[in-house]
Amino acid sequence: MEQNQINPAELDRLFSELAEKNWATSHSLVPSELCQQLAAEIFALDNAGTMQPASIGHGSSKTHLQDVRGDKTYWLEEATSSPVQNSARALLSQLQTELNRHFYLGLKRFEAHFALYPPGAGYDKHVDNHRGESARRITFILYLNTNWQPDHGGELSFFSPEQEDLRIARIEPRLGTLVLFRSEIFPHQVEKSLHPRLSLTGWFRNDVL
Ligand code: OGA
Ligand code: MN
Repeated sequence: MEQNQINPAELDRLFSELAEKNWATSHSLVPSELCQQLAAEIFALDNAGTMQPASIGHGSSKTHLQDVRGDKTYWLEEATSSPVQNSARALLSQLQTELNRHFYLGLKRFEAHFALYPPGAGYDKHVDNHRGESARRITFILYLNTNWQPDHGGELSFFSPEQEDLRIARIEPRLGTLVLFRSEIFPHQVEKSLHPRLSLTGWFRNDVL
């Protein structure tokens, strides 16, 4: 399979933005053809009944709380990866290498899942990684919604670390938009989506399995 090469100029721009604000977006780093293929896989997995309701918390406190978080997920695993999933994993792996080169983050691996928010679902305000609690360092979210329209909802609201009720950005989940942020810093929430809302989401981590 042909490797998707990351555009070095766009990567530089994205990393400057990340260095400056601790979060950043790119609309062109990930080829839209790959995004369309990923979206098609999510619909196929969902039609096959393979997407599972997402859970919150760990171990015995792990629970399904659809009012808090209404998405269905499918975790990408090396052993069961399709060619399209492999392309995405290869790209994330390149991104991990570049993040380490630029920011000395000591990232060792990433975890990634497809997410599908059915109509009416969202995800309440949360932080992905409470300081010191886990090894998630950088969150990535790649949106996969062709023809997203403002009245579809499902934006990512991004809040100030110092002032949790101050919204600093509202990101539209359009096909090909990639968001990166420091996992332990930013409260964020997924606004209720009125249409099925697709993404590839995950974390670059500094621990080993
Ligand atoms: C998450 C999350 C945001 C989004 O999965 O932890 O916050 O926009 N996702 O999908
Ligand atoms: Mn999150």
